[in-house]
Amino acid sequence: MTDLEEIKRRRTFAIISHPDAGKTTLTEKLLLYGGAIHLAGSVKARKTARYAVSDWMEIEKQRGISVTSSVLQFDYQGCRINILDTPGHADFSEDTYRTLMAVDSAVMVIDVAKGVEAQTKKLFKVCSDRGIPIFTFVNKIDHFGKNPFDLMADIEDVLGIRSCPMNWPIGVNGDYTGIYDRETEMCHLFIKDNAHGVKKLEMISGKMDDEKITSHLSPEIIQSLKDDLELLDEAGDPFDEEKVAKGELTPMFFGSAMTNFGVQPFLEKYLQLAPPPEPRKTLEGTVAPEDPNFSAFVFKIQANMDPKHHDRVAFMRICSGVFEKGASVLHRQSGKMIRLSQPQQFLATERQTVEKAYPGDIIGVFDTGELGVGDTVCEKKHPVTFIDFPVFPPELFARLSPVSSMKRKQFLNGVTQLAQEGAIQVYKQPYIMESFIIGAVGQLQFEVMKYRLENEYNVSVNLEPLGFTAARWTEGDVPPEELVGIDNAMVVYDRRERPVYLLPNAWQAGWLAQRNPKVKFLESPPLG
Ligand code: G4P
Repeated sequence: MTDLEEIKRRRTFAIISHPDAGKTTLTEKLLLYGGAIHLAGSVKARKTARYAVSDWMEIEKQRGISVTSSVLQFDYQGCRINILDTPGHADFSEDTYRTLMAVDSAVMVIDVAKGVEAQTKKLFKVCSDRGIPIFTFVNKIDHFGKNPFDLMADIEDVLGIRSCPMNWPIGVNGDYTGIYDRETEMCHLFIKDNAHGVKKLEMISGKMDDEKITSHLSPEIIQSLKDDLELLDEAGDPFDEEKVAKGELTPMFFGSAMTNFGVQPFLEKYLQLAPPPEPRKTLEGTVAPEDPNFSAFVFKIQANMDPKHHDRVAFMRICSGVFEKGASVLHRQSGKMIRLSQPQQFLATERQTVEKAYPGDIIGVFDTGELGVGDTVCEKKHPVTFIDFPVFPPELFARLSPVSSMKRKQFLNGVTQLAQEGAIQVYKQPYIMESFIIGAVGQLQFEVMKYRLENEYNVSVNLEPLGFTAARWTEGDVPPEELVGIDNAMVVYDRRERPVYLLPNAWQAGWLAQRNPKVKFLESPPLG
């Protein structure tokens, strides 16, 4: 296969949903169809196994949320699929947002009984701001659900996007027994069994007037299906590839991940319609996936996947060129050459060493502490810097210090690693060595930081909340001495040694900007 063919067959996407809509179950079923696992249950099992080895995951378990993202790869019908799983909890949206920077499309899972929920809305916005095509999977149709037209209206009202149902649930009053495929005009009925979808489920397929089908459906159900389809044909949006590509129209599929209803047809259609890797913006211009020069960016760092070894894995998305094992690349941010050691890909339950990887692929490399989230690696002769990587303005600040000064070394080590992981933002105050100022978007980030320092680095810490809600950077090199009116601000320094001004509120930040009209103030760190 040529390099170009390799690129074209890649589909890299994330599954987004409000907690409990069925993202984990759908991921698992996609792997099942992809042959990557033979029995459903292993994605969940993997989650559980990780709880056992990794103590800090306790926090997830206690709160019933998922705080980390995983990457899974498998082949299906000639496509190489990379699924990026994302955490569902709102406080971890930063991690999720970054993961969404690494995909080419997204699958939005909606619970048929609940419609669009709060977290779906937030995640959808990130995708639509980036113009990523979004496909909708309406899940749990084995259970009583909303009217499908109401769901379409919900998607339009809440998310502002039109939907185009590719299939339609068969049933009345929210009680469904199958789906109708609008393209092939086939009905697929599923016989509910007691296996709870543990294995692939047999289904009965046929045209609407086929006796195989009619014998299972009441005349009322058949009439209702006919009426719905007529209405869709007349008043619904036709499928339009261009609108889907621009993120203006979402192809909508109905199904049930748990019982395997419609999962396979969804996967097949999705692979056919979802885009292969697309060009990406850099400070130096657009980089196309076909560009022979290697480039990638780090979108996630996970420390202590194996707490016994204190390892750090940097996950990167390849954007151009072909990656070969052992390659030395330029780390753009430090200007240093680094060797990407022990590159890994993640296949369902196992890690595998990568020999070669192509644009669209995600690889995890062991990192000794050089790489940070958002960083670019590329070829020395063709340096580029990926942009559009969101850094969220922190809104909560606290002073973090070790309870015992004997633990200073572990404390420094832990804080530095967790900062590089992007778990939290860390600032230093001039001349103060025994504590850091930390910034977060949500309170839960502080709690996880505290928990992880205690459990992974064996340091108890004090967290003292500070009354600031706004942080400001300046464009260019402006020393704090040159600013007027910074008496209310705390001056701290970020990991690139840039001054940051912490202020009690946005009004005071505005006042500071007014008093220094020649200086441009920024709400998040400057790019690069
Ligand atoms: P999430 O990752 O989006 O948070 O959701 P997850 O897949 O964990 O699913 C949440 C719950 O919904 C699970 O039940 C799961 O079994 C159930 N579920 C997923 N898909 C379907 C479906 O198609 N139909 C029905 N009826 N239920 C579905 P749970 O009770 O929380 O967990 P478990 O007892 O299954 O382990």
